[in-house]
Amino acid sequence: MNIKCKSQTETEELGRLLARCAAAGDVYCLSGDLGAGKTCLAKAIAEGLGVAPDKVTSPTFSIMNVYQGAMEIRHFDLYRLRSPEELEDIGFEEYVGADGLTLLEWGELFADYLPDEYLHIEIEKIPEGRVITLTPCGKHYEELVKKVQELVNAGN
Ligand SMILES: Nc1ncnc2c1ncn2[C@@H]1O[C@H](COP(=O)(O)OP(=O)(O)OP(=O)(O)O)[C@@H](O)[C@H]1O
Ligand SMILES: [Mg+2]
Repeated sequence: MNIKCKSQTETEELGRLLARCAAAGDVYCLSGDLGAGKTCLAKAIAEGLGVAPDKVTSPTFSIMNVYQGAMEIRHFDLYRLRSPEELEDIGFEEYVGADGLTLLEWGELFADYLPDEYLHIEIEKIPEGRVITLTPCGKHYEELVKKVQELVNAGN
C-alpha cells in the first residue's frame, strides 16, 4: 500500500498509526534517500509507543539507540558501517527481531543480514511531499499492512 504524506505532520500521523499496530518482535526497515524522512517516521513510531520526544535522535553516529516505551525499541542507522564485520561487532544479529521493536535505517546496505520477514517502508520524495510505501515480507506483515490500511481508510 502507499500513502501520500504532504507534510511532516502527515508522516507523523502515519508513524503513530504504525505504532498502534506494532507487535513485539517486529522489524521495520525504513529506506529512502538522505533526508527522505526515515528518522522522522521512526521518531513518530517511538513517540506513539510512549517514548518522550527528546529521547529519540538519529542514530547516524551512535549506530544504535535504545528507547524504553510500551516495549523496547532499538533504532539502528547502518549508513556509516563499512563492513559486515562491523555489523557483527555491534551484535546486530542478536538484536534484530529480538523482543521489542526494531527500527532500521539503511538496512538495504546489508541486505544479507536482514531477517526473512520484515515490513519494508520506503519513503520517496515527490514535489508535493512524500510517498510512503509499505511492503510486507512474510505473512505476519501482510496482516499488519491490512490493519494499517483499515485504519487509514477509517480516517484514524
Ligand atoms: N512529508 C514529510 N515527511 C517527512 N519528513 C519531511 C516531510 N516534509 C519535509 N520533511 C523534512 O525532511 C527531513 C527528513 O529528515 P530525516 O532526518 O527524517 O531523514 P532521513 O531519511 O532519516 O535521512 P538520513 O538518511 O540522513 O538518516 C526533515 O527535515 C523533515 O522536516
Ligand atoms: Mg535518519
